[in-house]
Amino acid sequence: MTIRLGDVAPDFTAETTDGPISFHDWKAGSWAVFFSHPADFTPVCTTELGRTAALQAEFDRRGVKPIAISVDPLESHQQWAGDIGDVGGTDLNFPIIADPDKAVSLTYDMIHPGEGDTSTVRSVFIIDPSNKVRLTLTYPKSVGRNFDEILRVIDALQLTDLVPVSTPVDWEPGERVIVAPTISTEDAKAKFGEVEEVKPYLRWTPQPTA
Ligand code: BEZ
Repeated sequence: MTIRLGDVAPDFTAETTDGPISFHDWKAGSWAVFFSHPADFTPVCTTELGRTAALQAEFDRRGVKPIAISVDPLESHQQWAGDIGDVGGTDLNFPIIADPDKAVSLTYDMIHPGEGDTSTVRSVFIIDPSNKVRLTLTYPKSVGRNFDEILRVIDALQLTDLVPVSTPVDWEPGERVIVAPTISTEDAKAKFGEVEEVKPYLRWTPQPTA
């Protein structure tokens, strides 16, 4: 099943390291980062899950709940949790879904047979409070993801949901943004104050506070 931006993230029930969940109920109107890893007790995955645990305050600040998945069974996830805490310096503080029958992984198209076996690749879904998929990323098994980038995208999505702006190439929070094409320069000046028109379609303004 292909999941596209703007689709409702499919609901599911699953066993996790925090007990059984029903995904939409568990999200309960929050943002979520739903990401797959190929296998427990593997080095890249251990660093990724450790980093996610260490970023808890950053996720909380943005109203985001992380949740991971692999096709390994629950007992394996529970045994591996200690290593994640050792490596990342923070105890596991978010659920890992056990998906041994691959039901959820297949629904989210996380298994790419051309990548070697029937474990999940490194998929990421950023899902908004209304359960809409807002970003998808797919990384190969041998390449760890950049969780600073995941936070940066969440910041950009939350900003552009609130005000009529877009974020430019390599944008970082606090930097200038682009006035949305739907708003006239006159209206943009009234709304944002400072507007620099480089081209009729490229107008900069300092990042609005909200
Ligand atoms: C890892 O997490 O290190 C890994 C897992 C599967 C394939 C390659 C690397």
